Amino acid sequence: MRLDKFLVECGLGSRKEVREIILEGHIFINEVRAKSPHIIINEKKDEIFLNDEKLEYKEFRYYVLNKEEGYVTALSDSRDRTVMELLPEWVVLKDLFPVGRLDKDTEGLLLFTNNGKFAHQLVSPKKHVDKIYYVELKDDITEEGLHDLRTGVDIGGYITMPAEAEKIEEKKIYLNIREGKFHQVKKMLQAIGNEVIYLKRIKFGNLELGDLEIGEVVEVNQEDII
Ligand code: URA
Repeated sequence: MRLDKFLVECGLGSRKEVREIILEGHIFINEVRAKSPHIIINEKKDEIFLNDEKLEYKEFRYYVLNKEEGYVTALSDSRDRTVMELLPEWVVLKDLFPVGRLDKDTEGLLLFTNNGKFAHQLVSPKKHVDKIYYVELKDDITEEGLHDLRTGVDIGGYITMPAEAEKIEEKKIYLNIREGKFHQVKKMLQAIGNEVIYLKRIKFGNLELGDLEIGEVVEVNQEDII
């Protein structure tokens, strides 16, 4: 792999920025100062340093964002701002995409990766990955409503799989769904005659939002996800 490509994928900066870092003499390959961005390195064997700091190449990257409302889950959009615009500069954008989707007005945990195969597994209906939502409702939740959410409701020709529904207060619940149909939570609440007025995903697989601030991003490892 070319040295400049390697440095971009380590998150050091854009191609142009890393070229400057190389030409300023800050990069060492096995203790020898690198003079050109075009040098071919072996990313598995060579030791690459930014001054004294050893750089680690990661083929696959995983980031968690606490999404704010007002952004669509897409790589690009002609009308709306996208979740990609919420990612800070230090995130390596190359080949990165969001796993699954949150609606424009939904907040909370959104995972990004460049690992297509793994992402595919995560969203596969067969995999049953936990997705827990904190839901605020227009009307009080009833026992019958909770029962229906737990056993399955008809969301337009499709009966949802059993879900976990926990009442927090009269108008607040946690809902854990292990599938991910389009607008599923909103449709499930609609199916029981209620309406979602605020929606936030707080858990995805083993990942939890915790005290991640709105708009904040953290890098995670694949082992942390499921
Ligand atoms: N279900 C919804 O209705 N909206 C989301 O954003 C996520 C799940």
